Amino acid sequence: MKPYRILALETSCDEAAAAVVEDGRRILSNAVFSQIDLHVLYGGVVPEIASRAHVDACDRMIDRALTEAGMKLSEIDALAVTYGPGLVGALLIGVSCMKGVSFATGKPLIPVNHIEGHVSANFISHPELAPPFVCLVVSGGHSHLVIVNDYGEYTLMGQTADDAAGEAFDKGARVLGLPYPGGPHLSVLAEGGNPAYLQLPRPRAEGKYDFSFSGLKTAFINACHNLEQKGQPLPKQDLAASYQQAIVDCLCEKTMLAVKDSGLKTLCLAGGVSANSLLRSQMAAQAEARGIKLCMPEISLCTDNAAMIASAAYYRRGQAAPLDLNAVPSLPLA
Ligand code: KG4
Ligand code: ZN
Repeated sequence: MKPYRILALETSCDEAAAAVVEDGRRILSNAVFSQIDLHVLYGGVVPEIASRAHVDACDRMIDRALTEAGMKLSEIDALAVTYGPGLVGALLIGVSCMKGVSFATGKPLIPVNHIEGHVSANFISHPELAPPFVCLVVSGGHSHLVIVNDYGEYTLMGQTADDAAGEAFDKGARVLGLPYPGGPHLSVLAEGGNPAYLQLPRPRAEGKYDFSFSGLKTAFINACHNLEQKGQPLPKQDLAASYQQAIVDCLCEKTMLAVKDSGLKTLCLAGGVSANSLLRSQMAAQAEARGIKLCMPEISLCTDNAAMIASAAYYRRGQAAPLDLNAVPSLPLA
């Protein structure tokens, strides 16, 4: 059968990315332009700067994705774009751009939920993977435990009551003087540290499968400030290792409980925080001990990219959007 090729664009936050993916699982190209350099000065994403940079980057990323795939736009079967959740201005740039391409070429435009994109990164890294499975989605803005019943069909089991896991990493990293986005820097710093140095709480949220990170974050920030007030140098490696261990313990505990109660035998990780090496190794050990198959995207597909958006769009091929498609900044997954 003739392969079905989707050109996708992702601009929900601070990455402008375009990709061509074949049959939802094979990457032909995956171009990512990260704006980190533009935001690092401010210690976080500045929405207005992100939108303006996307205006500049979208055309270039689409050209690069087509060139790297060795394809002309006319050879593409469908277009896809992230329409939420995310920063409204950033989303609108991508949505407007792809509506223009769709209008000019007459090709269908498939709107994609960013979180569904993160889940779908697993279909690329694990071509044999099929629903149903449990998925932990942990990014800068979201911490969700979902059952993927079928392609595009989800049951939300739990979510964060306050901060997202990535946010908790980033805020803790800031206290240690690490640059934005702090998660990956904190993870590197933690490598040589003692995870038992600082006793941190493992806060419980009300819902059985919900997360809560704000109490943990506050306890960590207070501990750092106490050390500073005593004039002691911060043992940054040990602090990073203790904090990372606490976040990962919370994620693993609720995830294993959700998998057990679901009765399912496959677990996937997704989102930027799933690039964390302690999370990956601890989940792998716990899944193996319980006879659960664990799937994780390769590292480059954990953080924001457009290949995952193209993969999600493949399973919504019949659901093209009208040209009045709008951005939905707080679009829910389920
Ligand atoms: O999925 P993503 O690229 O963007 C959102 O949709 O939010 O996730 C970004 C988040 C940031 O908070 C970043 O610090 C975190 O993922 N992150 C990590 C690691 N790599 C990215 N956190 C911990 N360890 C990592 N290795
Ligand atoms: Zn994301």
